[in-house]
Parts: sequence; structure tokens; C-alpha cells
Amino acid sequence: MRAGFHGLGLRRIGTGAATLPQAFPPNFVWGVATSAYQIEGAAAEDGRGPSIWDRFCQQPGAITDGDDGRVACDHYHRWAQDLDLMADLGVAAYRFSVSWSRVQPAGAGAWNAAGMDFYERLVDGLLARGLKAAMTLNHWDLPQALQDRGGWVERDTVYRFVDYAQGMAARLGDRVDWLTTHNEPWVMATLGHETGHFAPGQRSRAAAMQVAHHLLLSHGLALQALRAQGCRSALGIVLNLSPVEPATDSAADAAQVRLDDGRLVRWYMDPLFSGCYPQDVLDWLGADAPRVAAGDMVSMCQPLDFLGINYYSRSVASADGSWNVAQGGLPLSAMGWEIYPQGLTTLLLRLARDYAVPPMVVTENGGAFPDQLQGGRVHDVDRTQYIASHIAAVGEALRLGAPMAGYMVWSLLDNFEWTSGYAKRFGIVHVDYATQQRMLKDSALWYRAFLQAQRSAHAAAAGAA
Ligand code: GCO
Repeated sequence: MRAGFHGLGLRRIGTGAATLPQAFPPNFVWGVATSAYQIEGAAAEDGRGPSIWDRFCQQPGAITDGDDGRVACDHYHRWAQDLDLMADLGVAAYRFSVSWSRVQPAGAGAWNAAGMDFYERLVDGLLARGLKAAMTLNHWDLPQALQDRGGWVERDTVYRFVDYAQGMAARLGDRVDWLTTHNEPWVMATLGHETGHFAPGQRSRAAAMQVAHHLLLSHGLALQALRAQGCRSALGIVLNLSPVEPATDSAADAAQVRLDDGRLVRWYMDPLFSGCYPQDVLDWLGADAPRVAAGDMVSMCQPLDFLGINYYSRSVASADGSWNVAQGGLPLSAMGWEIYPQGLTTLLLRLARDYAVPPMVVTENGGAFPDQLQGGRVHDVDRTQYIASHIAAVGEALRLGAPMAGYMVWSLLDNFEWTSGYAKRFGIVHVDYATQQRMLKDSALWYRAFLQAQRSAHAAAAGAA
């Protein structure tokens, strides 16, 4: 850990504000994050239509233990208790996503009043507890009805998404602080349509790149439409980004770094900030490059009020084709991902250097670890260490000039971890899936103490002024 981080480390947290050499700015937003399909359950209740994840989970072998999101954390019914948990933790904001097929079951046309009412209760419940709402419109769970018409490969889905965005903003835009169009377009495009690991499980690079294009286009058109209708929320998008580092110092691996960075980072950042796709990636794609209509590149390059970044690990590039090879020497999370907090500092500084970024928020960061329940407690030192060291990495980026505005832990609750089902636990709150009982892990107690220490430091500074 680098110099300057120590005051944020584990040992001195909770020993009082005086020992914190670097408090974050008073308006820095601390939060926790979840997503609809991963926690809500109630998949067939109150008129919700199926999404592509409901369908994908039915494929034999797709999900560990044959799990699915039908019940998940039952948050649809337990939302009030979950908001109380957040208030108790002392976070300022909650990042959640809307299940599109809950509010508009066919992805077009009729709205489902019961679904809309759920999100209205949720947002009003946040405000009543003094919490800010950070709402994501698309966290991967496209209505199955739209998939049946071609899904994100089809340009028509772009316009359906803009309608959906407008409907949600008309209903909640006056109360949602931060509104995100898409969560992690790379995942939906590449894992959903190129490797087929995630819903809808397609395997075509050309399709994946067309999906990426349609996601970026729908983001831009939605921002234009929301601004035209006077939406008061801050508007942004969330990308999963990593620094890409070479497996060896060979020239071939250096070339692979450039390509992988092009596909993961520049393919999304360049159009958002410069209105063009990276030429080297277009050249490499050849006939698999997306079809781009006149005006699309201008449409997707809209001013962002914030940029959300989800960070878990670095990416390691190797010309022999292996993806994310663990390098040895670095500790791994239960996902097999390297624990590499300094990569977050590197990434944030690089984005601030190469692009005219707006305020940046780490919208997801956290880890799965093999938790043990012991006497009603989970002593998750590894997760606590993970979160503390990554918060320190954000602090370092801030100190070195990156415009950091917030940090959110993934995740509030143990939840449905996509193809890993319920076998991997990311929560700072333990969920007993048999009883739906929630219990704060040590990481949650640490986060609460850390946030309290931040508040005390600001109060002391204000008092001294
Ligand atoms: C993501 C996902 C989360 C995952 C988390 C851990 O946006 O990548 O939002 O849904 O659960 O990343 O894999």
C-alpha cells in the first residue's frame, strides 16, 4: 500500500477522526449497490414480464446449482427493511436498478402500474430516510419479449429503450439524484453475445459489436430525450473498466495490451467523449465492425453529468489468448480475480488524463470471499481489507487530481451472482437464503465505522473553522 493511505487502513479506522490524515471531501457520496434481477425475486408477481435472465437461467448447466432469480433476496417484499439497513450503515446513496420487464412487461407499449408503484415506494422510502437514489435503467435484464424480436442486435430496441427511459424519468426524475442508462455495456455485448457466457447466450462477434453500438446509441439518444423533457437527475453511464497490463514483456503481449485496452476501454470511452470508435479496433474487427447510421456517432457523444466506473481487478493481456491470467503472487478473491487496488488508482488517473471526464463515481467495487458464519457473525477480514484498500486507492486518485465524486460497495447484500448463482457471496450483509434473515458482516461494521469517522472529521473541521 502506498504512502498516504495509512490513515484509511484497517488498524486506525475507528480510532477517531484525529488519526485520519486525509478525509474525503464532505460532499463525496458513499453508497452501496445492488441490481434488480440479483435481489428482487418476485419474478412472476404483480404483472412482471420475463427478462432474458429468467430465460437464460432455465438452460440446463447455465447457472451453478441450477439457481435462478425467482426468489433471490426477496427484496421486492423486504425493501423497507433493506432501506433501514442502509440508513443504519450511514451511507448517503443507494444504487439500484429497475427491472424493465416489471414496469413494462413487453418492453414496449403498456406500463405495469404495480411495477411502477414498487419503484416509487422504493425511491420515496430512500428520501424518507435521507438517502439519495441512484437509479440504473438497464442492468442486463432486457425484457424477453424484446429479445424475441432480436434484442439489442436490432436497432428497434434502441428506440424502445429511449421510450422506457422517458417513462421512468417522467415518473421518478424529480426524485432520483443520479440516473444511469446502462450498466457495463461491455458485459452485455461481449459476455452476452460473443462468448455466450451470459444472457442471452449468443456467440457472434459481429452481433456483439452491433449490440455495443446500439447500447451506446440508445444511451446518447436517451440523454438527449431526458434533457429535452426537463429531467432533473444527473445523467450518466456505468462502464466496467480496468487497466490492461501485459503478462510478459514480449512485444506480442504489448500489442495484445493495446488491442484489449481498445476493446474494453477505448471502444466505450472514445465514442462517449470524442464521438468516434478507435480506428485500430475497427481495423482489427474488419467485417465484424458494427453498422453505423449517419448521425449515430454524434448522438452517442452527449455531455455526461457523471461517469460511473465498476472496478474489481486489472486485466492481464497475453498474446497466447488467455484472458485475465492470474499472475501469481497476488491474492485472489473467491471469483479467482486478482486483488489489485493500485490498479484502481492507475485507471482513474488514466481516464482523467486521456478524456475530459465529468465527476467520476466508483459505482461498484467489492469482493466475493468464502465467508464462514461463526456464532452469528461473519468475520470477513479479507472483504474488509479489500474494501478499505480500494477506498484508499480512490483517495490516492483524488489526491493526485482525479475528479472523484463517490464510491459504492458491491454489494449491500449477498445475492444472485449471475452464472455463479448463490454460491458466491459479495454482500457486506449476509443473507440466509432459507430464512431471508439479514445480518451485518464485519465488513459492514467496518464501513459503518469508517463513514462515521468521515462525518466526525468533517464536523470537527467545521467546528474548528
Ligand atoms: C457488474 C455487476 C454485478 C456483479 C458484480 C460481481 O455490474 O459487474 O453489476 O452485477 O454482481 O460485478 O461480479
